[in-house]
Amino acid sequence: MQKKTVEFEFTIYEFNELETSYQELINKAKEQVNKAYAPYSKFHVGAAVELENGEIFGGSNQENSAYPSGLCAERVAMFYANAQFPNTPVKTLAIAAFTNDKFLETPITPCGSCRQVLLETEMRYEKDITILLYGTEKVYLIKNSRQLLPLCFEKSSLGR
Ligand code: THU
Repeated sequence: MQKKTVEFEFTIYEFNELETSYQELINKAKEQVNKAYAPYSKFHVGAAVELENGEIFGGSNQENSAYPSGLCAERVAMFYANAQFPNTPVKTLAIAAFTNDKFLETPITPCGSCRQVLLETEMRYEKDITILLYGTEKVYLIKNSRQLLPLCFEKSSLGR
């Protein structure tokens, strides 16, 4: 028998402690909540992606009456960015959530499907994606998405 432990490290900041470029990306994610289409959950999520070339793309959650057909803000932003610049690595992703007339105090963390997409993008460009999760009380900084998916299924799992 062998016991294994997976460690997960992230840092908690106050918004004002963050470097300016991170604050700007978070502000962009916050703006994006206004563009969410979330008539069912009333949970408005904004995301902003910064590419290695400095380009920034926003996204928001897009819901559907057929619930599973909707898409999270992170994936909208990531797919949008990758569709415009297929050869440019993603550097940073920021996420913010707004509901009941306010931003959440504690950050939300990406769902499992978004984690899988983030990981694919990280592997695709062989570059860590810094993830900034915004809450009014605290901001989580996670250095890469791989940590969010231990024992993940990835390209190498296909044996190719
Ligand atoms: N949602 C996101 O956009 N990102 C997340 O990280 C979590 C959840 C969306 C999906 C759905 O439109 C709504 O929030 C409620 O789950």
